[in-house]
Amino acid sequence: MSKNDEMKKIRDEVLALNVSPLYSCRQTNHYYPVIGEGNHDAAIIFVGEAPGKTEAETGKPFCGAAGKFLTELVESIGLKREQVYITNIVKDRPPENRDPTPEEIKLYGPFLDRQIDIIKPRVIATLGRHSMGYIMKKFDLELELETISRIHGKIFESYHNDRPLSIITLYHPAAALYNGSMRDVLKKDFEILKKFV
Ligand code: URA
Repeated sequence: MSKNDEMKKIRDEVLALNVSPLYSCRQTNHYYPVIGEGNHDAAIIFVGEAPGKTEAETGKPFCGAAGKFLTELVESIGLKREQVYITNIVKDRPPENRDPTPEEIKLYGPFLDRQIDIIKPRVIATLGRHSMGYIMKKFDLELELETISRIHGKIFESYHNDRPLSIITLYHPAAALYNGSMRDVLKKDFEILKKFV
């Protein structure tokens, strides 16, 4: 099966996921699930938490205010959005932008795992603490897990199917929207990614 077909299969399975606690919110509001967007051969995957309202209305990840800043950050290291892959752990919008629950992360996590298997990135950049926790545990880095304020902007080395994988822990771009100093921290942390470009 081609990578495109494998991604479509994931989309179809998420569309049919009526056991999700977020399914009724999707149906009631005529939202789309947000699977991911970008290059299926990307060296870098960005993993956020869950779609917000704008994302659920369009089906595209990071297309609202936080997404605009993410695009700026990606471009600041000399890449275009189309060259990377952008996704979330949870594929449906949690109501009122609340944090995803552990149950939702458990339900949607395997779809993200499959996306990582399809793309085989060299780097996974986590955006925010939920994504950081999920990815670090998945890649056997649980012992190095600390609060995001301690480990933002760091590189952790692991393996994915015997290939080296670097994990970079970043703040969520939404944290910088109303906080100028956080904006500068994110910009600086992003520079670490330059060595993989
Ligand atoms: N926040 C996220 O974590 N993901 C999105 O797609 C948009 C906002």
